[in-house]
Amino acid sequence: MREQLNNIKAQAEEALSSVSSIQELENVRVKYLGKKGELTAVLRGMGALSAEERPVIGQLANEVRQFIEDILTKKMKELAEAEKRIRLEKEKIDITMPGRTRSFGKRHPLTQVIDEIKEVFLGMGYQIAEGPEVELDYFNFEAMNIPKNHPSRDVQDTFYIDGNVVLRTHTSPVQARVMKTQKPPIRIICPGRVYRSDEVDATHSPVFHQIEGLVVDKGVTMGDLVGTLQVFAKALFGEDTKIRLRPHHFPFTEPSAEVDVSCWSCHGSGCRVCKGEGWVEILGAGMVSPKVLRECGIDPDEYSGFAFGLGVERVAMARFNIDDMRLFTENDVRFLMQF
Ligand code: PHE
Repeated sequence: MREQLNNIKAQAEEALSSVSSIQELENVRVKYLGKKGELTAVLRGMGALSAEERPVIGQLANEVRQFIEDILTKKMKELAEAEKRIRLEKEKIDITMPGRTRSFGKRHPLTQVIDEIKEVFLGMGYQIAEGPEVELDYFNFEAMNIPKNHPSRDVQDTFYIDGNVVLRTHTSPVQARVMKTQKPPIRIICPGRVYRSDEVDATHSPVFHQIEGLVVDKGVTMGDLVGTLQVFAKALFGEDTKIRLRPHHFPFTEPSAEVDVSCWSCHGSGCRVCKGEGWVEILGAGMVSPKVLRECGIDPDEYSGFAFGLGVERVAMARFNIDDMRLFTENDVRFLMQF
C-alpha cells in the first residue's frame, strides 16, 4: 500500500507537470483526488490493515493528498494568470489609433445667402412673407400692372399650367397677396423660387431664387428705398460698399431703377468679377405704382411704398466668387463644402 501511495504521488506529479489548461487540471484532480479517484480507492482499502500499520499509512496518505493539492493550487494560480494575460492581450485597445471622424453637413450657399439677407431685414423690423410657386396669372401679371399682351411679358415668359395658372416668374405677386390681406404699415420680405423659360447657361437657369421686399406706409419716399438698400448692401458686402441706381422700367413701380453694388473684389476700379465695370447689378426696385396700390385696395393718396426684387443666385455668385450658376444645382459636395 505504501508503494501504491508512492506511485500515485509520482504519477500525479508527472501528470500535473504537463497540464496546460484549467480543464486538464480539473481532470487530473478528479482522477487522483475525486470520489472515485485513485487515492480514495486506496483509503477505502485501509480497513484491511493492522492496527499498527493503519496510522502510518493514514499519515502517508494524508501527506500524498496534501502534496497533490499543493501542486494543484500552484498550477491553478499559474494557469489563471496565463489565461488572464492572454485575454488582456486580446482585448487590448490601441489608444494611438485615429478616431472615426464624423463629417458635418453644411447649409447650401444659396440658403446661407438667403438666411443672411433675412437676418439683415428682420433686424430692420421686416416680417417674412410667403406665396405659392404655382401662381395665378392674375397675381403674377395682372395685379402687377402687366396686362395680357403687354410686351414686358416677353422677358418673363414662363411655364403655363393653363390659361390662368403659371409658375411664378418673380416673387412680386407676393406683394399683391400681402397688400390684399394686410393693412399698412407693411414691411415684408419674401424669399422664394421662381421660374422662367430660359435656356441653361452660366448665368441663366429656368429655376432660380429671388427675395422680394415691400414697404407700404404713410410718407414712404425714394430716400427710404435708397437708405434701406444701402444698409443692406453694406451688411452683405462690407462697410465700404456703395450702391448706384440706374433708371429703368418695371410696370409695377414708378419710378423704377436697377441697382448696382460697387464691386467687392476691385472696389470700383474694374476687374474680372465685374467685367471691368466696377459695379455689379443685383436687384430691381422702385416706388410701388399707384395703379398697383389701388388694385390691391390701398389708397395711393394716403399711402406710398417701395419694393425691390433681388436675385439670390447673383448675390451668392458675387459673395462667393462663383462664375457658373449651374454649380449650385449640380450637388457636387466638393464644390458645396467650400462655402
Ligand atoms: N420683379 C422684378 C423682376 O423679377 C424685380 C422687381 C421687384 C423690380 C420689385 C421692382 C420692384 O425683374
